[in-house]
Formats: sequence, structure tokens, C-alpha cells
Amino acid sequence: MLRYFTAGESHGEALVAFLSGVPAGLKIDQAFVDRELWRRQQGYGRGGRMKIETDSAHVFSGVRQGLTIGSPISIQLENKDWKNWQESLPVGEGDPEKHKRVASPRPGHADLAGALKYNFPEARYVLERASARESAARVAVGAVAKLFLRELGIEVLSHVVAVGNVAVSGEVPWEQIRALHQKETILLNCADSEIEQRMKQEVDKVLKTGDSLGGVFEVVAHNAPPGLGTYAQWDERLDALLAAAVMSLQAVKAVEIGAGVVAAASPGSAVHDEIGYGKPASFTAFTRTRNNAGGIEGGVSNGEEIRVRGYLKPISTLRRPLQSVDFASREPVKAAYERSDVCVVPAAGVAGEAMVALTLARCALEKFGGDSIGETVRNFAGYREQLRNY
Ligand SMILES: Cc1cc2nc3c(=O)[nH]c(=O)nc-3n(C[C@H](O)[C@H](O)[C@H](O)COP(=O)(O)O)c2cc1C
Repeated sequence: MLRYFTAGESHGEALVAFLSGVPAGLKIDQAFVDRELWRRQQGYGRGGRMKIETDSAHVFSGVRQGLTIGSPISIQLENKDWKNWQESLPVGEGDPEKHKRVASPRPGHADLAGALKYNFPEARYVLERASARESAARVAVGAVAKLFLRELGIEVLSHVVAVGNVAVSGEVPWEQIRALHQKETILLNCADSEIEQRMKQEVDKVLKTGDSLGGVFEVVAHNAPPGLGTYAQWDERLDALLAAAVMSLQAVKAVEIGAGVVAAASPGSAVHDEIGYGKPASFTAFTRTRNNAGGIEGGVSNGEEIRVRGYLKPISTLRRPLQSVDFASREPVKAAYERSDVCVVPAAGVAGEAMVALTLARCALEKFGGDSIGETVRNFAGYREQLRNY
């Protein structure tokens, strides 16, 4: 079973990610993993932290001579900012005078709920772990999941659908999404360059006003076979697994599969994807004229592109802070400010890709099994043959 786990504080020494259940013999392309980490750090509207950190994956177990060996993989990402925090966030007792308190909880962050839950007098330890810096560790193991999926011919990428009120309309074809990822620079990762410029103007507006923005990203899994996930049990449904995985990302407040939101207000005839039969394609000769289902029906992938959207609330930290209360005096004050991004939709999309890739890799391993990549690929080929003969 594919399992993963992350650890680490935002300003601690490092982030660590563990991934177990990857078959032996998978080639780990370090440059690819680092590029994924770089992609998570890009996008117009990121803050000063991204200038400090240049993430690189230090793999220290589970990979030898460039190949996975079936043992748990552990990856460390150094926090370059740690050198500035060693005294205020020591593992040992340290000097309490050097502790950096978060004087007042910031609305929209875990600060207050976390301090109440763990009985902390202020929110430093809460934000250290609730911070989306953690998503870098997920991107690292997500990159390994992507390398695994590639062996089965499955690719996972994202694009930005909306920043604030500025949005692309209609389905963006896979070829356009893939072309977007050939670019050397990432502005807002939107497939329509004109709309991307308007998105940039939205970010510029909030940069001037001290406000922040949310938006929508879409993750697309291309060439996923029919049959991942199952309706047989509620917690094995692919849509449920993907929704939980994407919703678990910081700031994601809604998840949509396919045209889910518009579908709720439309008649069935305008929503469901009619079935035809034609030339044998990637997996079968069954065809669809459209993909409003986002590649999943009844909790099972149906062979169409899997499309999952994550809706992000606006960034919680504001340079023009909202009202809060001082932890010590209980007096009304403006919320604390810590260095912050103002728009993270492209970066969240990259983290979304990682979560989708990890989920699909888990489902694929459940279906095809295999302790070595050769065995998994062989089992997959057998299933492919079964579909061809259906
Ligand atoms: C890639 C990424 C980067 C983020 N960077 C920031 C940031 O710099 N400042 C901030 O206030 N929130 C940031 N967030 C969002 C917060 O981490 C998140 O809103 C907060 O932890 C509260 O969690 P919740 O929104 O899931 O309830 C970021 C989210 C993502 C996905």
C-alpha cells in the first residue's frame, strides 16, 4: 500500500517526507524532483520567502544507484531560513527571551483554533506546522508518484482557471496544458496568455491595497485507464479519495470533479456524457462526446481525462491586517503580520498535482500490485489486453 507522511516546521531545520509502498526498480530522476519543487515556488504574487528557499530534494533512503529498492523512501528539504531561526525556534530549551511570539491570532489561519487546541499561550508553534511550507514535502513525494505513473503512461499536470474574479471559460485541452509546461518561466500558469495578463493585473491591485487573492486551479490526469477506484465501498471511491487529497491542501476550501458545480444547476441532458463506439483508442473503443464527469463515474475512472479543481480562499495574511485580539492582554489589536504571499494559485496547483498523483499511484498499485516496476507494468499490460478484448 502506498503511504506517505510529512514532518517539519516552516522555520525549522528541514522538512521531511516519507513514502512507502513504491515498487523496486523505479528510476528516480533527481532533476525532475527538483524541477517540481521549483515549480511550487513560482508564480506572480509570491512573497519574500521564495527568494530565500531554493528547494532541492535530499533523498536519504529507499533509493540506491538511482533506483527505488522497495524500502521506504525518505526525502529531506533543507530550510535555508533556519539559520535566522536557530535561536528563536531551538529544539533544545534555548533562551526564552529569543522566542518570536505571534502576539495576536490572524483570522483565516489556524492560529487561534490551534492555540486553543494545544493549550499554547500564543500561536508560534501552530503556524510553524500549519504553514503551506509543508506542501513542499508533499510535492517531493508527489514527484516520485508522478515518475511511477509515467511508467504506466499516465501524466498529471495543472493549470490556473481563475485568480480572483478573472477566469478562463470552457475546458482547456490537454495539449494546451502540456504546452504551458514547456515554458521556462511561470507567471500565473494560465493557458490563455491574455487572461493571464488580466490575472496579473488583479494581483497588482491587491499588492497596492495590502489585500490578497484566491482562485481556482485544475489538475488533469491524462491517459489514466478506466477502473481506478471503486463504487464497492464508500472510502474506496476515486472521487472521494481525490476530494480529500486536494481538500487537505492549505487554503483549498472546495473541490470540484469535472463540471460538478455547473452540473448541479443544469438538466441531466446537458450534463451526462453520451457514449459511443468507434475506433480502438488508448484503452477501449468506447467514446464520449464530452467529459463533464471529469473522468469519474460511480467512483471509478472511466478512461477519460480526470479533471479535479481546487478552489482557494484568499491568502489569510494581510499587509492591511484585520481585527484580532492580543493573546496576552485580550485587548483588541490588528492581527499579527508575518512575511506572506498575496496569490498562490499556480503553486497550489503544483501541490494539487502531487496530491492527485499520489492518489492515482495508490489506486493503480491497489489494482495492479507488483513489488517491482517490471511486475506492475506487466500486470498493467495484462489489464490493457483485457480491455482491448472486451
Ligand atoms: C502554496 C501555498 C502557499 C501559501 N502561502 C501562504 C502565505 O504566504 N501566507 C498566508 O497567509 N497563507 C498562505 N497559504 C495559505 C495558508 O497556509 C492557509 O490558508 C492557512 O494555513 C489556513 O489553512 P486553511 O486555509 O486550510 O484553513 C498558502 C497556501 C498554499 C497552498
